[in-house]
Amino acid sequence: MLVRASDSATQRPRRWFGRYRRVARGGYPDVMTSRFAAALNAQIGNEFAAHHQYVAIAVHYDALTMPQMAGFFYRQAREEREHAMMLIGYLLDTEQEVAIPETAAPQSRFEGILEPIELAVAQERQVTEQVYSLTRTAREENDFAAEQFMQWFIKEQVEEIATMTALAAIARRTTDRNIADLEEYIAREGGAAAADPTAPRVADA
Ligand SMILES: [Fe+2]
Ligand SMILES: [Fe+2]
Repeated sequence: MLVRASDSATQRPRRWFGRYRRVARGGYPDVMTSRFAAALNAQIGNEFAAHHQYVAIAVHYDALTMPQMAGFFYRQAREEREHAMMLIGYLLDTEQEVAIPETAAPQSRFEGILEPIELAVAQERQVTEQVYSLTRTAREENDFAAEQFMQWFIKEQVEEIATMTALAAIARRTTDRNIADLEEYIAREGGAAAADPTAPRVADA
């Protein structure tokens, strides 16, 4: 049997779990990491990557002096960060390890006004597949709490794809001469969503 240095030093039997033990011992309890928890940790990286990508897109529009589009993507970025913090909140609440993964650099150079939106649509479709895959894992593991937790993200992705595809449709009709129309569309339709009382807990809120 493997004995960690800290165990032999304290001679304390490993029988209590939870945050107190984490604080006292400076580590996570030796709980089994479920397949769902491992996949959810990977998803934290995907949500942070989505955050970075939306910041890069917002900066592109900011540099083009399109404050409405910039503001819209800065808000989207904050939402993605919030998703990551929801996953962290869930792992903490269920006493599972949080390991923040690496994230790749986002694409920062774009041609014109449509390319970033098409990238955003592709990104949202990819995240939707990731959400479905997490839900499938929860179901396979008979992890009912995890399956319920994922339901909010399924609904969220339906909204995100609808928002981005509508924006792409408007942007396709936009030329250099009528950029103001796109800004006007976002000013009218692209405001921050109302607070959702059914949303999962955000770890740092
Ligand atoms: Fe997200
Ligand atoms: Fe999203």
